[in-house]
Amino acid sequence: MIEKITPDRKSILANIRIQRFTPSEHKSAYFDNFKVNVETGMTVLEALRLIKNTQDSSLTFRAFCRSKICGSCAVRVNGKPVLACSTQLMPILEDFKKDSVSIQPLKNMPVLRDLVVDIEPVIEKLSKMHPYLMENRERIPVTLEQESIMSKQEHSRFDYITDCILCGSCYSACSAASADPNYAGPLTLGKAYRFSADVRDSFQGERMQAAVDQGLWSCAQCRKCINVCPKDTRPAVSIQRMRKMSIDDGIHDTAGSRRAKAYTGDVAKYGQVNKPMLPVIVNGPKGWAAIEAADNYLKKHGIEPTRQVCMLGGQSSTQKIYDKVKELEAKGENKT
Ligand code: SF4
Ligand code: SF4
Ligand code: FES
Repeated sequence: MIEKITPDRKSILANIRIQRFTPSEHKSAYFDNFKVNVETGMTVLEALRLIKNTQDSSLTFRAFCRSKICGSCAVRVNGKPVLACSTQLMPILEDFKKDSVSIQPLKNMPVLRDLVVDIEPVIEKLSKMHPYLMENRERIPVTLEQESIMSKQEHSRFDYITDCILCGSCYSACSAASADPNYAGPLTLGKAYRFSADVRDSFQGERMQAAVDQGLWSCAQCRKCINVCPKDTRPAVSIQRMRKMSIDDGIHDTAGSRRAKAYTGDVAKYGQVNKPMLPVIVNGPKGWAAIEAADNYLKKHGIEPTRQVCMLGGQSSTQKIYDKVKELEAKGENKT
């Protein structure tokens, strides 16, 4: 006999706080409150549609596929960017132990109305990255009968990022994009990596320079983009890989590449970073001002400044890890 499983259905009368804003009518954004009977399984998008159909037809939001495919429905729920169509409300209410939840538009993009943001500025940045294949004559066949076959290993270099649906969640969560509106952002740099890592592409150099010009080294590696991506495309990992590719491509004249080289060189030599001299290594003679400021601060607190790396116990272990990483890289086994 087949046992019938009935899901434990619950219902909570919740207060849904929605950020409202119409640029032509309001000076600043404000919140409206709506009472909704949230049932087990109800998604954020279903709640928004219910409110629009029964309480306020002027509520504006964007959605299309309702299947986590088109990327158009991203909003922030209790501050975190999510896809409205694939995020259920009940677990959020239970996690926060509250009967109230806030829904806001994505951050770091201009609001067009209520929950709809203008993603056009991000798409403009993306277009500067040449997000398409420029044929590599050595890999593209000359006749239609031939195929351009990649090995599994070649494909795995970028396979994980092809699922990006341009939802903008990572851009909304990005600390570097909040700090600098000119920063390209995670989805943009992720796409740049996707094409640069493709063996059928011949455009790496130009695309790499475009990425460097648009802030490849400004990423703080906070990994918030990884945390919020609904497709697990790991933009911060692509950015790390792109940085390495840019150094391998000979783009050394950036503070970021100098810092990366100093870090790896110092760890190989001392087992740790030579912090006292880092400002000069990264910024050239301009860095002395930062070193002098640090010296004065230390002296003021009775500490004698040093230019030497302080060797600590156990540093030989760090060097062993470094050597092991290099060994794995040489064998092509380091996947990070
Ligand atoms: S990388 Fe992820 S979060 Fe960013 S746009 Fe693509 S799917 Fe959305
Ligand atoms: S890791 Fe970089 S790209 Fe990702 S959210 Fe942080 S600063 Fe932005
Ligand atoms: S409506 Fe398409 S991803 Fe949500």
